Amino acid sequence: MFLDEPTPATRLRVASFFAGIGGFDLGFERAGLETVWQCEIKDFCLEILEQHWPHVERARDIREVEPYEIADADVWAGGFPCQDVSLARMGPRAGLAGNQSGLFYAFADLIESCRPKALVIENVAALLSSNQGRDFAVVVRTLAELGYGIAWRVLDSRYFGIPQSRSRVFIIGYLGGAERAGAVLFEPECRDRDSETRRSNGQKTVSPFKICVGDASKGFVKKLAHCLYAESARHTGTDWSRNYVSYPQGWVRRLTPLETERLQGFPDNWTVPKRRQHNLQALDSARYHACGNAVSVPVAEWLGRRIRRVLGPELVDF
Ligand SMILES: C[S@@+](CC[C@H](N)C(=O)[O-])C[C@H]1O[C@@H](n2cnc3c(N)ncnc32)[C@H](O)[C@@H]1O
Repeated sequence: MFLDEPTPATRLRVASFFAGIGGFDLGFERAGLETVWQCEIKDFCLEILEQHWPHVERARDIREVEPYEIADADVWAGGFPCQDVSLARMGPRAGLAGNQSGLFYAFADLIESCRPKALVIENVAALLSSNQGRDFAVVVRTLAELGYGIAWRVLDSRYFGIPQSRSRVFIIGYLGGAERAGAVLFEPECRDRDSETRRSNGQKTVSPFKICVGDASKGFVKKLAHCLYAESARHTGTDWSRNYVSYPQGWVRRLTPLETERLQGFPDNWTVPKRRQHNLQALDSARYHACGNAVSVPVAEWLGRRIRRVLGPELVDF
């Protein structure tokens, strides 16, 4: 909580691209921003977005969006698909030349047409090394040529109160210059990790790991693979080796969809559609996949607070 946070009279409006199940949207809303438009192609994700933001206008395929369709917004947020830059692929990476990660260019075309004041872009940290760094240079140069001051920082979800090591690069673009963009991401008053010793009611805090998955000290959970990836309910070789919990007795089990929601900071059952599906395996797959793709909500919330605090009044008067 920033006590001296200047609060703009008007809420900052956010257009959310590649919205998934709304990790950015939920975190930003918790920080006091308002989602006014969303774009997402997958039916399952669209259903979850519709459930949580019934009044927000939505588009499907970014390649078909016309600039005039996008609601007026102060901030555009989006984590373009990472499949072609991710190291999880364990093979040659097509980078921005790939069909999926190449959607960055569709996003950039819309940015060029509408010139929102501020941008927040998220991707796997491997974007920094894809094509020996040339892909990241393309992203930065493209935005800089459109007039944006750019700053970036790798943030790891483990320092935001959730027990998951998840390093992602966050890029801030701001039409008001790089120094202000940098001020969003780098705070001199940063807390040391997420270690609160007491809750506001005086009780001791409970470790986030215990809240999400269980209590290791009681002899249940021994180990959790370090980072949640997008995967399906059918575990195959590498998928299985990532998201599992192993027990001292030698048992191993995969995470439940509910646990994957918790590990990303979503409320319980965020990804359960109201219209129940009969094929539970398909539903589990969709939930695993969407949670593995999402932005960790507490990280988005922190970014939202930083944007309000550092850019809030400027954005409103821009
Ligand atoms: C890395 S995920 C972003 C997840 C999101 N930030 C969240 O918190 O859930 C990328 C998203 O882009 C979506 N996507 C892929 N192609 C798209 C397209 N052509 N138009 C719009 N969205 C697309 C995917 O379905 C996926 O949900």
